[in-house]
Amino acid sequence: MTVAIRYQTRNGNTQAFAEQIATVAGVPAESIDTPVEQADTLFFGGGTYFMKPDKSASAFMKSLDATKVKQIALFTTSGGPEMVSDKALTKIATEKGIPVIGHFHQVMGGKGMKIIGSAGGKLKAEQIELVKEFAQKMLAQ
Ligand SMILES: Cc1cc2nc3c(=O)[nH]c(=O)nc-3n(C[C@H](O)[C@H](O)[C@H](O)COP(=O)(O)O)c2cc1C
Repeated sequence: MTVAIRYQTRNGNTQAFAEQIATVAGVPAESIDTPVEQADTLFFGGGTYFMKPDKSASAFMKSLDATKVKQIALFTTSGGPEMVSDKALTKIATEKGIPVIGHFHQVMGGKGMKIIGSAGGKLKAEQIELVKEFAQKMLAQ
């Protein structure tokens, strides 16, 4: 099975989860600047900015080729509990005919909000455990 990991991040939170997934999947976590050649399972993650995914994350999802990417395991982060990026990105994947086989979402609160002086990318032990469990579950599908 071919596995790929791509993430969009502004402040490091989503990247930190991608890097944990990489330790389980044994493939590198790469930014969406690296195109996906082929993947049976693509782990794809992004943040939430003003109630939307970043434009680059939506554009990346739109650029995927359903003949090359068989299924997506989606992971998103946000400050608050609403899963708006998950919903928006899932909608694009569905329109493209690529099934989303799982959804991982973490609420980061103010972590990574530079405006309040908080650095991103620091995960709690329980978040590391949760994302690793997610990765294992997705890889078994
Ligand atoms: C400019 C900006 C706008 C944001 N807007 C929202 C928002 O509308 N809703 C929300 O839940 N979180 C919001 N957040 C919080 C981010 O979604 C959260 O920090 C997320 O983990 C960012 O991922 P990243 O560190 O990978 O960029 C915002 C963060 C920034 C920096």
